[in-house]
Amino acid sequence: MTAPASQVDPFDLVIFGGTGDLAVRKLLPALYHRYADGQIQPGSRLIGVARDALSDADYHARVREAVVKSLGADLPEETLSGFLGLIGYHALDARKDAGWDAFAAAMHASPERVCVFYLATSPDIFVPICERLRERGLNHARARVVVEKPIGRDLQSATAINDALGRCFAEQQTFRIDHYLGKETVQNLVALRFGNALFEPLWNAGHIDHVQITVAETIGVEWRAGFYDGAGALRDMVQNHLLQLLCLVAMEPPASLAPDAIRDEKLKVLRALKPIDETNAAQCSVRGQYRAGASNGGAVPGYLEEIGRPESRTETFVALKAELRNWRWAGVPFYLRTGKRLPERVSEIVITFRAIPHSIFGESAGQISPNKLVLRLQPDEGVKLWLMNKYPGPGGLRLRRVALDMSFAEAFGVRNPDAYERLLMDVVRGNPTLFMRRDEVEAAWAWADPILAAWEAGHDAPKGYTAGTWGPSAAVALIERDGRTWHEDAS
Ligand code: BG6
Repeated sequence: MTAPASQVDPFDLVIFGGTGDLAVRKLLPALYHRYADGQIQPGSRLIGVARDALSDADYHARVREAVVKSLGADLPEETLSGFLGLIGYHALDARKDAGWDAFAAAMHASPERVCVFYLATSPDIFVPICERLRERGLNHARARVVVEKPIGRDLQSATAINDALGRCFAEQQTFRIDHYLGKETVQNLVALRFGNALFEPLWNAGHIDHVQITVAETIGVEWRAGFYDGAGALRDMVQNHLLQLLCLVAMEPPASLAPDAIRDEKLKVLRALKPIDETNAAQCSVRGQYRAGASNGGAVPGYLEEIGRPESRTETFVALKAELRNWRWAGVPFYLRTGKRLPERVSEIVITFRAIPHSIFGESAGQISPNKLVLRLQPDEGVKLWLMNKYPGPGGLRLRRVALDMSFAEAFGVRNPDAYERLLMDVVRGNPTLFMRRDEVEAAWAWADPILAAWEAGHDAPKGYTAGTWGPSAAVALIERDGRTWHEDAS
């Protein structure tokens, strides 16, 4: 059983982009769960905003369909109707004045409440929306604004967006989402590191050989070609999700779980990253683009055919060797890789410990592999610790690698809530711990920019890889040059 969720006071949540993919696939199903668990109280208002001229009833029909599609057809009708009863709709165009006064009047109707404005829109209208909210006094002390990543496409544009947001909402009212931070298994990383005495003494360059972070997807760019082709894997995944994971692995123990205690430590990690630029990009980075191949059991087109832009040089795969310039991690590579159309959907962090200093076993015992701690973020969430053991029975002392294997599903037997469930309720409660602070976002761009610039200056197209494989062979070479290999579960 899941622990009972503590109720939050009635609040208003406005989703700009209320008919869009994020709202329909993620936010509304997440809100349904929070309502069904009793956390969202009747009297709260969930308001979809988009340009389409829809009635409340039209919008209800869309939300019903989306929630059922996402969560299954057997939802209790009473709960679903109760949830739909919280939902309203406003047609508004962020760039035009029409409708904003009526919208503002409706929002001012409950002045004592927390009011969340979730910008599930394209980033180019973040600022116009925030300005209109400010002009109508909707940036009051109980208001919060939520923006999706990526914030900008480089340091300069991110700074401009942050400055403009900052003119409308104070930093403590601004919640920059990186949904990876809301994943249960990502939060478990903090629990594992700081809730156990076992790991921390070993968590440094003296005992850890290297770290791997993989976020692999089987999907292609789907319906998001327009956005994706202007972004690419480094901006879409590395600058945010992968760097946030790296920060949680590498940060110093914060003094508490206070929002700024954790975010201060993450910021120090980002600032300690060794630059990858024109001088070392060829050794430390690989970018790839998928060609036609097979994925999810069927033939799939290559990226260029899929997006219909044969000249595109956008990367759909990145592998990097990152390093941190600090005492704890000096000399420990962090190998990062992410890509679309890879053979399986898997996100995991692999910590490989150093080899034993001396073996007392003869050659007949077999090879002694270093210990590995594998944190599986999705799917099949769990933790594995690979250890050497004696193979049972006679025949001499033979050693075999075996994993202590903990599956969260088996250990806890509870539903793993979606990241957005936690994050949305944290915004309502005003807890920014799992959101990116402005300086973090900018530090992450400051590191990513020179990589992008080096690729641009190099004039090479991304290296091709066949859809359904683990990226270009150069990604294998990137790690094998250092005498290491990408982790495979059975390896
Ligand atoms: C998003 C990216 O932030 O994360 C997508 O924009 C990616 O390109 C997605 O597919 C992956 O999220 P998850 O939760 O499915 O691992």
